[in-house]
Amino acid sequence: MLIDTHCHLDFKDFDPDRQEVIDRAREQGIERIVNVGSSLEGTEKSIELSRKHDFIYSSAGIHPHEADRTGSKELELFGGLLGAGKVVAIGEIGLDYFRNLASRDNQEKLFRKMLDLAKEKDLPVIIHNRDAHEDTLHILKDTMGCPVNGVMHCFSGDAAFLERCLDIGMLVSFTCNVTFKKVGRLREAVKLVPIDRLLLETDAPFLAPQAFRGRRNEPAYVRFLAEEIAGIKGIDFEEVARVTTMNAKRFFGI
Ligand code: NI
Repeated sequence: MLIDTHCHLDFKDFDPDRQEVIDRAREQGIERIVNVGSSLEGTEKSIELSRKHDFIYSSAGIHPHEADRTGSKELELFGGLLGAGKVVAIGEIGLDYFRNLASRDNQEKLFRKMLDLAKEKDLPVIIHNRDAHEDTLHILKDTMGCPVNGVMHCFSGDAAFLERCLDIGMLVSFTCNVTFKKVGRLREAVKLVPIDRLLLETDAPFLAPQAFRGRRNEPAYVRFLAEEIAGIKGIDFEEVARVTTMNAKRFFGI
């Protein structure tokens, strides 16, 4: 049994066959799914999905890409969603200096507001960080203190950054891009993460595993990631499944 701790089944990519994708996940032993909100509307849809399916949980978050168009009205509406049952985390939230779709100033303001909400509601955080290592860690420590009850999603840093994330108590999660060819640094990071600090995610519809590269990803494919991680770490698939599932249940309280 596996848990996909981060996917976006609310995206329109799944409009034609959402139910089949969800059925396939269940048939293939995906025990739980955390569907991740990345906008106000996305969070509403995500909560809706969690209400419809007993094995789907939801996070609530506004992605840094949305920072320029998130005002006080949106934040108020967002705050009203957090009481809904099955909201198990705040995310994905963070900073993106790679695509820079919103100003850095607004990204930081939004990130801090989201972290304050997480503290207030006592929920873990799911962090998106692209090319913003220093600012992300600084803001996290500044608002949350230490340890940080959060996961660094779709880990993409080097060994030194990994160590700093682990040092402040974070979990680290990897996506199916670990299965790609020529991802030496990523495989090295997988080796270095203690298995009790590791989560599995697909980030579907993005980053389908090597066997389906370029196509749409889906929660059932988290199995390919678990197999790859077992190979890299030299442990049994069952052990990867057992421990990462336990980690996810503990982290999200599900
Ligand atoms: Ni995501």
